[in-house]
Amino acid sequence: MKIFKTSVFILCSLAALQSAFADSFKQAPVLDTYTQECASCHMAYPPALLPSASWQRIMASLNKHYGVDASLDAASQKKIGTWLSNNAAAGKRTSLEPPKDRITQSDWFLRKHNSHEVDPAVWKRASVGSPSNCNACHAKAAQGDFEEDSVRIPK
Ligand code: HEC
Ligand code: HEC
Repeated sequence: MKIFKTSVFILCSLAALQSAFADSFKQAPVLDTYTQECASCHMAYPPALLPSASWQRIMASLNKHYGVDASLDAASQKKIGTWLSNNAAAGKRTSLEPPKDRITQSDWFLRKHNSHEVDPAVWKRASVGSPSNCNACHAKAAQGDFEEDSVRIPK
């Protein structure tokens, strides 16, 4: 019985850890300027997906933004940059600056989307296009909701 109780306890703690991780991306109130300016080419990535230093570099190089020009007027750039920094990742696993300031190059991202979780061929489907296209599989990605129950891999 003791062993049973202990394992139930461990399982519950693991489940809590798991959802605590998914919860760590939940949104602060959205900034309208952000949605207007940063969600035309891809979804509006929740600020908690990257640490502040990464957002700062991204906002300082919008004229050379992953192969496109995403320049903004100075006022919007400042407003969005401040909001992103204020709401940036603070968790132990999410606050490391990933290569190229890409969410999709973060250690946690690569771990959560390894070849056991997502068949490598899936990334090449037209319906997915790129790992950066979170909302192809996470219906509520723009709200920062990455819970397992709302994951659906498109055909
Ligand atoms: C003109 C189109 C365009 C606009 C506007 C735009 N982006 Fe992007 N962004 C891109 C492209 C293209 C990529 C690379 C996507 C890929 O590799 O599939 C990208 C990638 C990103 C990534 C990295 C995603 C990853 O792979 O982890 C972040 C973060 C990002 N953009 C933030 C922003 C922010 C913040 C703004 C607003 C200031 C913005 N983007 C506006 C086109 C745009
Ligand atoms: C091709 C589909 C697909 C795309 C695109 C995708 N994901 Fe996922 N994601 C998954 C799958 C499948 C899982 C594993 C779900 C599970 O734990 O059973 C997952 C897990 C996660 C988790 C962990 C949730 C937890 O409870 O531990 C997070 C966070 C996450 N994804 C964020 C993102 C972000 C951010 C993006 C875009 C930059 C993204 N994903 C793009 C399919 C995808």
